[in-house]
Amino acid sequence: MANKDKLAGSMEFPPETQQPNVYPLSWVSKTKKMEEIYSASQREWWDPEKLPWDTLDVDSYSWEEREAIAYWWTILSVFDASAPPVFAAAMIKTYELHEEDAVRRCFFSVTRDEQNHEHLCGLAITKFLGHTDPLTYEPKTELGKKLQKNAKWLYYNGGRYWEGYKKAVPKYSLAVLFSSFLMGEIAAATIFHQMAAGCTEPVFKEGFASIGRDEGRHMAICMSLMERDYPHLELDDKATITKQIRAGYLFLSAVLFEPPVEFWDIPEDFIANQREGEEVARKAGFHIPTYEAKKENWKNAMLNLKGVLDKYDIPFPAIPEVGISGEEITDIDMEDIIPVF
Ligand SMILES: [Fe+2]
Ligand SMILES: [Fe+2]
Repeated sequence: MANKDKLAGSMEFPPETQQPNVYPLSWVSKTKKMEEIYSASQREWWDPEKLPWDTLDVDSYSWEEREAIAYWWTILSVFDASAPPVFAAAMIKTYELHEEDAVRRCFFSVTRDEQNHEHLCGLAITKFLGHTDPLTYEPKTELGKKLQKNAKWLYYNGGRYWEGYKKAVPKYSLAVLFSSFLMGEIAAATIFHQMAAGCTEPVFKEGFASIGRDEGRHMAICMSLMERDYPHLELDDKATITKQIRAGYLFLSAVLFEPPVEFWDIPEDFIANQREGEEVARKAGFHIPTYEAKKENWKNAMLNLKGVLDKYDIPFPAIPEVGISGEEITDIDMEDIIPVF
């Protein structure tokens, strides 16, 4: 820098820093609940590498079983592998907004947790397939081929929301972003507890219990921010939230229920292939909830969320798929998606 550009020679104090700038130089502590959740996240951190992998003998499974179990982890990865960048972007936003210190740390903890979840997906897939990714892996069975075709379609669909998300982050308030996050967290917390209870492999039992505990904390983060911000919500934001809940339902159904064909661009045999794979995995002791159990689970998660939104007079969308009536929302596209897992 040339000397003439230096301000320090001509002024005693520097000019004001233009806002928003990315970092606050302050550590405000207001929302006590957030401090507690962050402390819990520090205590409860776990390492996927340290699960009891030595108890897992993949050779005791047939190739069909291995491919079916790896497929379920692949579905989960479509969501969990995009969660670290999605939450990292939200964390940057908390810095730009000069959010409370504990809010910034909580978002960091979610990003870190999601990285763990993704890490576990990778470890499970690599062990079961003997290959580091499910897309270039060479299937050994007919079922494996069908499931790989499914995986390719899931990956294609999941890739379509990132550009939209990047535009949504600066556009919406944290309050709106939370409503979408919350939806994923509520549903995730329930399904992982169920899987932890039902799975027979110690490594999965423990892994799912840890993920379920993380998701419960993520849920609590969203809830405490909503409690703080929702009493002052703008009317426009309420309409956006209603739409996002419907979008979240359509998006997350792919992992928590079955992908709705009007929203997911998938081939005709997709659902049948997935059901076949799930049946094989289930019989091998990998506890994927049945169609009816998933439906019940998903419905309860929606009703839970509805209970939260009702408190703040935010209209709930109709979710006829699980028997919930409400506001009709139709024009949803992948580009409108905010929710993650
Ligand atoms: Fe997760
Ligand atoms: Fe999460």
